[in-house]
Amino acid sequence: MKDYLKKDEWKIIEEGFNPSFNRISESIFSLGNGRFGQRANFEETYSGDTLQGHYLAGIYYPDKTRVGWWKNGYPEYFAKVLNAPNWTGIRFDIDGEVFDLSKCEVNDFKRILDMKNGVLERSCEAKLKSGRIVKIHSKRFCSIANDNIACIRYSFKAVNFADPIQITPYIDGDVMNEDTNYDEKFWEPISETADEHQAFIITETKKTAFQVCTGMQILIEKNGDQIDADNKSFTKDKYAEIAINTRIKDDQEIVVYKYVANITSENHPKNELQTICKKEVEAAAANGFNQLLADHQNAWAKKWEESDIIIEGDVAAQQGIRFNIFQLNQTYTGEDERLNIGPKGFTGEKYGGSTYWDTEAYCIPFYLSTADQRVARNLLVYRYKHLQKAIENATKLGFKDGAALYPMVTMNGEECHNEWEITFEEIHRNGAIAYAVFDYIRYTNDENYLTEYGLELLIGIARFWSQRVHFSNPKQKYVIHGVTGPNEYENNVNNNWYTNFVAVWCLKYTMYAINYVKSNAPAKFESISEKIKFYEVTETKVWKDIVEKMYFPVDTEKQIFLQQENFLDKEIIQVKDLPNEDRPIHQKWSWDRILRSCFIKQADVLQGIYFFEDAFDVETIQRNFRFYEPLTVHESSLSPCVHAILAAKIGDYDKAYEMYLRTARLDLDDYNNDTEDGCHITSMAGTWMAVVKGFGGMRIENDMLCFTPYLPSKWKGYSFKIRFRNRLLHIQVNQSGTSIRKVAGDELTIKVKDKDIRLVRDQSIQC
Ligand code: BGC
Repeated sequence: MKDYLKKDEWKIIEEGFNPSFNRISESIFSLGNGRFGQRANFEETYSGDTLQGHYLAGIYYPDKTRVGWWKNGYPEYFAKVLNAPNWTGIRFDIDGEVFDLSKCEVNDFKRILDMKNGVLERSCEAKLKSGRIVKIHSKRFCSIANDNIACIRYSFKAVNFADPIQITPYIDGDVMNEDTNYDEKFWEPISETADEHQAFIITETKKTAFQVCTGMQILIEKNGDQIDADNKSFTKDKYAEIAINTRIKDDQEIVVYKYVANITSENHPKNELQTICKKEVEAAAANGFNQLLADHQNAWAKKWEESDIIIEGDVAAQQGIRFNIFQLNQTYTGEDERLNIGPKGFTGEKYGGSTYWDTEAYCIPFYLSTADQRVARNLLVYRYKHLQKAIENATKLGFKDGAALYPMVTMNGEECHNEWEITFEEIHRNGAIAYAVFDYIRYTNDENYLTEYGLELLIGIARFWSQRVHFSNPKQKYVIHGVTGPNEYENNVNNNWYTNFVAVWCLKYTMYAINYVKSNAPAKFESISEKIKFYEVTETKVWKDIVEKMYFPVDTEKQIFLQQENFLDKEIIQVKDLPNEDRPIHQKWSWDRILRSCFIKQADVLQGIYFFEDAFDVETIQRNFRFYEPLTVHESSLSPCVHAILAAKIGDYDKAYEMYLRTARLDLDDYNNDTEDGCHITSMAGTWMAVVKGFGGMRIENDMLCFTPYLPSKWKGYSFKIRFRNRLLHIQVNQSGTSIRKVAGDELTIKVKDKDIRLVRDQSIQC
């Protein structure tokens, strides 16, 4: 755990230069606007330790897979979000001496991420080897008001010298991914152009042939006056710069404005990229930094207006939750149904920027409650659009007749992951994708989604489960063998309770969806059936039999569900009895020791109970929670939030708070020692859930929105807003109780602590 950042309600503040934490800070101080984003790399030359990272949503490279023992069915490639052309760079040479913080004595270093306004600032005083002292201040943002553009204002001040200086803003597409499998660069040059004020490069990804035009328009001021003297442009493959030569002397300040646009062939014809990019940078420069910043801040204000959570009386908790909300909002905006949420967002290369079950299991509830309904819907449509690929994926593995297995990891619908125990066995992901359809409809009432997209996807998934089970004669039950549940510290197990449960649930829900579409849109049902050759009577007969005769491992003595068959044959040791030096076990133990142990990486049985809570009484939840929580090491960031929600449900509020703390400041405090790889974006949605569903007790029960709020004793109060079926509600919890206000939308009846409350006007109701 690290504690080098200052606590503040709206800002993340680093004071003092910490080169050894630089990668961590680069992750934490990242910026994005849903369309592109970047790590907090310095603008000027930096020869110290750094992970350079600029990312463009949806632009990836299929890096040829490297595995020891190839297995049939493995995908040929692992899709990687690319380290894209660097548009932040500005070089400073003072009479030949390169300004590089890693070679300077650095004082008064300060880095601030202003989450309210979506702005990154950095300032310091640096003494170069020559004794020259400079003061710098940089400010930048990726506009969410216009997601094509970004701006930098960089000021450079001479403190004690008078010398010639060359200032060189540049764009550099000659970049690499650190995680490249074959030391390969993924970008090819297409064109470079530059004049005294503008520069553009067009680069193309190898294999996938995405083209990107990265352009800049620059403006340089010395002591407030624009200087254009002697601007010299230079280009080479994948690179363009504009160098400005001038002189600087004591107390003079040079300010560089860099107006940047990133335009990709994802959204525009290739032959128009540069024209559009040029228009964007010219319009940005004409508007000027301050106006663009104001537009950007207004857009952020709107986001905060609806998604903020206010925690009173605990600055660390307040900073933590806002950091999570900030990152989620800058990673995914829901503007484009082809995009999704990589576990690291725009903050690092790990997990390849691809889509995991994290989106359906963790992220959708956040976007459902804090953004327009269309945002969560787009995340569902994304999977619908990949249905054909999921069918191809299942076919490749030997399934037939339209059975669909969604990939564990994907960019374009194709499976990218190649560890057999995950690729072939972690099939529970199919369940989460079906569950998300249910969750979305339960929340929004948009049942029409079933007719339009949901049913077809559900039938594909149901077909998969019906072929993946087999009938066990000794048990006279259906079983599912050879799986990995959400707990990846067990592989190739039989009858993982969660997987069996979710499989049966999918079959039941699909049959519900069939009936719904049949009675509400019979013609559509006919056309879907014909399109996918669905034989309702014969297929659902099999499904019903599976639903009736599925095997679920349980222990009758302890009255708990068993994570998998024979789980209790393991040596049962609690996490509290593990020596500290053995943790985290994934770093300290051999894989074989982990597999044989009873330790659980992340919620598994409890994940199922969380999803399908209505199916269990509180005593059942309690028994399972008390058995599994002490065995869980939470070595996936996705784990503690589920435990926090269930702990609150059973009234174990201390545990709920303990679990909440583990998620809320996971990256800010670098709990897992891995923030340098990037932030845990998808688990940030889990943190939001831990507050709203955990402490707030928000649920949909019998089609009604319900709350059972609890105030953690360390907090004076908390409040949040949620959107629900075209209403906007404001929930405030403090020592005097809970008050609910309907800020917008029609009348609504909700339940607070089991009492019906009718919300008629825009007024607070104390409950
Ligand atoms: C977790 C998976 C998750 C992945 C990406 C893994 O450590 O076990 O459940 O999908 O990380 O977040």
